[in-house]
Amino acid sequence: MRIIAFNGSPRAGGNTDILLSSALQGIDRRENRIDVFRLNDMNIRPCQNCGGCTETGVCVVDDRMQQIYPAIRDADRVILASPIYFFALSAQSKIMIDRCQPFWCEKYLHNRTLEKEDGPHRHGLLLLVGGMKKQIGVDCASASATAFFRTITVQEHRTLSYLGIDQKGAIRNHPTALKDAFEAGRRLVNL
Ligand SMILES: Cc1cc2nc3c(=O)[nH]c(=O)nc-3n(C[C@H](O)[C@H](O)[C@H](O)COP(=O)(O)O)c2cc1C
Repeated sequence: MRIIAFNGSPRAGGNTDILLSSALQGIDRRENRIDVFRLNDMNIRPCQNCGGCTETGVCVVDDRMQQIYPAIRDADRVILASPIYFFALSAQSKIMIDRCQPFWCEKYLHNRTLEKEDGPHRHGLLLLVGGMKKQIGVDCASASATAFFRTITVQEHRTLSYLGIDQKGAIRNHPTALKDAFEAGRRLVNL
């Protein structure tokens, strides 16, 4: 299987990073191909709503997103890992998601589905970490993430969210988070 993972945190070695690594450790790399996109390090312009993708379903902006489009098209499993910022997904995550508007056009305007016709159903995993203990951050981030997953024809996804995790690396002290993530990664490829 081909698994793609988006890391929407700018903090290398931070909580999102640690949680995502645990999920990926649950996936056998000998049998599966994993590509991780560290969005903070990628030159991706925000969507300009230029209308370029409306007719064709193809984005005309030439940047690192052009590397992500084929990866999304090819993926069997998609993981999105993001910290919660201002009760939402991080900007790094959201910029990538907004640039998936060509898939939205393809699916909803041109009635074409991304799904590989004879392949397995596409499943997703959403990993969220927030420093506050306010559920609204998870709810808002989840709403955007769900729109993203459905747009790229990931019909189902699971969510693991952890609140009250603020200091860099604090997720390691959570009683179940790393084990949960490992198990979620393992299950993701066995669905
Ligand atoms: C700009 C900014 C905004 C934040 N806003 C929220 C928020 O609205 N809700 C929340 O629970 N945590 C918020 N946090 C805390 C982060 O979600 C928290 O520190 C998280 O553990 C960071 O994950 P990371 O280590 O992967 O970067 C914010 C942090 C930053 C830097």
